Amino acid sequence: MFLGGFIFCCLFVISIAQDETNNKLFPEHFLFGAATASYQIEGAWDEDGKGENIWDRYTHTHPELIANNDTGDVACDSYHKYKEDVAMLKELGVDYYRFSLSWSRILPTGFVNKINLPGVTYYKNLIKELKDNGIEPLITLYHWDLPQPLQDLGGWTSEFVVEAFAEYARLSFELFGDDVKYWLTFNEPKQTCLDGYGQGSTAPGIASPGLGEYICAHHVLKAHARAWHIYDQEFRTTQNGQVSITIDTMWCEPATDSEEDVAAAEKALQFTYGWYANAIYNSDYPEIMKTRIAERSLAEGFNQSRLPSFTDEEISYISGTFDYMGINMYTSILVEAVDEVPVGEPNYNYDMGIKSSQSDDWESCSIYWLKITPWGIRKLLNWLKETYNNPAIIITENGVTDDGSTLEDEQRVRFYRDYLSNVRSAMEDGVNVIGYTAWSLMDNLEWRQGYTQKFGLFHVDFDDINRTRTPKISVAYYKKVVETHCLVDTCEE
Ligand code: NOJ
Repeated sequence: MFLGGFIFCCLFVISIAQDETNNKLFPEHFLFGAATASYQIEGAWDEDGKGENIWDRYTHTHPELIANNDTGDVACDSYHKYKEDVAMLKELGVDYYRFSLSWSRILPTGFVNKINLPGVTYYKNLIKELKDNGIEPLITLYHWDLPQPLQDLGGWTSEFVVEAFAEYARLSFELFGDDVKYWLTFNEPKQTCLDGYGQGSTAPGIASPGLGEYICAHHVLKAHARAWHIYDQEFRTTQNGQVSITIDTMWCEPATDSEEDVAAAEKALQFTYGWYANAIYNSDYPEIMKTRIAERSLAEGFNQSRLPSFTDEEISYISGTFDYMGINMYTSILVEAVDEVPVGEPNYNYDMGIKSSQSDDWESCSIYWLKITPWGIRKLLNWLKETYNNPAIIITENGVTDDGSTLEDEQRVRFYRDYLSNVRSAMEDGVNVIGYTAWSLMDNLEWRQGYTQKFGLFHVDFDDINRTRTPKISVAYYKKVVETHCLVDTCEE
């Protein structure tokens, strides 16, 4: 195919400095994949009966908030070009493709009263094309694109959305589950809630700091648990798949060895990852969140904690709702202890109460928040193992962005090599990592950064009506890793 010659001539990059790289083979059954998400790639925003979602509304009504006024109206046009996407996955040789369903493409009103058959057909076709090419689908049910009619009723701050999501999940299992072995209920719920309903910096743009994000998270956790139980009770015996959630965090490195900074770093992990993970992999919210938010809320004049509480029944219903652990990880921060911020306005960051920074010594890429810290993923994986009783882990996203100026993305080659090297070392430490997913299969709409940030292994020409896809040199490297299960030229067993 058209990619072959390019990849062959670029294999030289694989030999770039790899002295420090872990040279152990990944186990035979280790899974490699690549990921995308519906709003970021599909386009066809109002085609064939698809309903409006909160990102359609946000980009259309607040173009000034998105770089270059970009929208996902056309994006990579994957609604029409999914066969090209599958051909790229085939070229990479990956075991699975992580993509998300657009809720409003299947259910334009958000509710199951109206099923949009062309939307269902699109996903059936995509899944068939994947299976015909020997690639397993790993489906995310919710990657941030809530149907707008549900937002009009309050979205994730309203209790009704829990049942609406549960019904959408059940329908998705019914429609697609015979061909799907891996599911994720939610992608990065922290961003959904903190940015969407706390800080108001992304869709739906509700700014309710210190309140909105906690109420949202409460409903997301209940909705996740409902979907997991529905699968467990109604589908597991016939479909035999696995359901989880993927939560993101940066690795939080204590700025010094002091007891205070070490405790602050642990607190930061609990406020970011533990906020969602503790209820699922252990039980209830982390103690430190319950205590701190209750204390600050009362001092602020509330009669109860701004962090909602679960009943005992809810705690046991949510606990254990996972078949594996999903984790998205890109970067690290340095964490320092700070004096308690005086009580005033409610705010998640004050509730957490730490100072964070990134070292100037850490390599940068084209986006401000992503400093390249491969060692951080090994530390994070070990922390997950210790904190959550050694679950089977799939890294559901990891990757780096560039500015699109070159197809010779040597930084991405080094990024994948060095992060994967640390993943392999974490496995030697005893962490049970079973899969790794590159973000992203191709350049796509990076939310408020629009098309200015390019996370893809494949370049997409957004000025070209055909949205032509071209491999960057990182395709050759990742393809070789997937094929050989080895990060260097020769590996040991
Ligand atoms: C997290 C999100 O899941 C994904 O949508 C986003 O594009 C990447 N990380 C990169 O920021």
